[in-house]
Amino acid sequence: MKKGSHHQICENASIWQILFLFSLIFLIDSTSHASVSDFCAANLKGPDSPLGYTCKKPAGVTVSDFVFSGLAKGGNTTNIISVTPAFVAQFPGVNGLGISMARLDLAPGGVIPFHTHPGALEVLVVTRGFDSGFVSSANLVYLKALHKGEIMVFPQGLLHFQVNVAKIHSNAFVSFSSTSPSLQILDFALFANDLPSELVMQTTFLELATIKKLKGVLGGTG
Ligand SMILES: *[C@@H]1O[C@H](CO)[C@@H](O)[C@H](O)[C@H]1NC(C)=O
Repeated sequence: MKKGSHHQICENASIWQILFLFSLIFLIDSTSHASVSDFCAANLKGPDSPLGYTCKKPAGVTVSDFVFSGLAKGGNTTNIISVTPAFVAQFPGVNGLGISMARLDLAPGGVIPFHTHPGALEVLVVTRGFDSGFVSSANLVYLKALHKGEIMVFPQGLLHFQVNVAKIHSNAFVSFSSTSPSLQILDFALFANDLPSELVMQTTFLELATIKKLKGVLGGTG
């Protein structure tokens, strides 16, 4: 340690003044970063990525980032089923937290067809009963008529479905282990794109006529 430099600092400012300055800098620094370490409400105007959105500036974050009212009322089931998402795009507060929610509404006869969420497990709470099941990678079927208050979990990536066999509407609240769970519907993957019908036939063992018919219904070509 150079004796001279220490001596100079003491000449210009007392040790107490220096300590005060340091604590002030620390205080300002920790205040401006406090909410950043607590959460990262999505800046939906910024770019999205598999890691989520960038954070809104703390000063712009309000309670509405952490509250979503869209699941309070039933979705429009004119088209038999309705899935109302509360994913990060609708619910910026979940950004970076690894969870999100949705609401399912099924009119009588409504079906949520075989689908998977490749990046998320799902757990649902039934508010009005329906049948639901999933198929494991060992091709075992786990199927149950679910009633109000029951919950069911669908392990990540497995194909699952919901069917309302009742004569009244059914619904459930769903949560996912992702802020933006992806959705792949089996029939859409097979019949709603331009994958050549011959290839679909070869890779599914279905008859060509069936494939053409399903492509017609689901908007596929080829
Ligand atoms: C429900 O959806 C149908 C069809 O998309 C639409 O015609 C109708 O106006 C919607 N009803 C409400 C209440 O939004």
